[in-house]
Amino acid sequence: MIYDLRLSRAHDNLRLVVGAGAEECASIAASEIETALGERTNPVLGVATGATPRRTYELLVERGVSSDGVHLVLLDEYIGLAPCDRRGFAATIRRRLAEPLGIPPDRIHVPPVGRDQSHEPCEAFERELRDLGGVDLQVLGIGQNGHIAFNEPGSPLDSRTRVVRLSRLTRENNRSLREAGGNDDRAGEVPERACTQGIATILEARRLMLLATGERKAGILADAMLGPIDPEVPASAIRLHPDVTVIADVDAARLLPVIA
Ligand code: F6R
Repeated sequence: MIYDLRLSRAHDNLRLVVGAGAEECASIAASEIETALGERTNPVLGVATGATPRRTYELLVERGVSSDGVHLVLLDEYIGLAPCDRRGFAATIRRRLAEPLGIPPDRIHVPPVGRDQSHEPCEAFERELRDLGGVDLQVLGIGQNGHIAFNEPGSPLDSRTRVVRLSRLTRENNRSLREAGGNDDRAGEVPERACTQGIATILEARRLMLLATGERKAGILADAMLGPIDPEVPASAIRLHPDVTVIADVDAARLLPVIA
């Protein structure tokens, strides 16, 4: 079951695709990513980490999508993890997507998390994105508090790449960093800080694709899609973008009017 509806005439820039479940959403997302990668030479794919897009990336690998010239840009990274720590977002993307697809390390771009936490490395990262020609398609998840990347509630809509302190809710949600150590599901201590692309940085991508699955995302997805565009719900800012696809399963889309 796939609905493919505009949320309302007022939101012509925003397409909502509702899949029956997480698997169907992943399949739709993977197909759209594959198409987008095929449309350009040296395409730049912005990748979220977290649980939601995991199956999408698996499908890209299973389908053997072409990685010719593909660059990957991460949204965010924890500060304070060793570079080889499996819980790191860059390590996760390398393991789950880049290595299986054969994307070399020099085509993976990560917000800076080195010792120098001044503005300079963050500005250099923004320049790196511009030098790449910008992000063609940015995959996003949504935090239960409405964050996109690690732009927590209260993040300015004009924010750029910077170091941030993570909220207690985000750290709790990420506490069971299920990636940690193979079968070991136990929590690692979640770092308190991260470097994240800002909301304005994210909005510069040519196209945005936000994925949301599961009942626990229903309330915040409805706030983000239907409430005011408000820094307190950072994901609401995607509605300012001219080309957004939201892919949600019926559980996450439950409070959106198209399902009612
Ligand atoms: C991760 C990221 C975060 C996640 C969000 C949802 O790179 O940018 O904003 O997308 O925390 O995480 P999951 O998918 O685990 O619910």
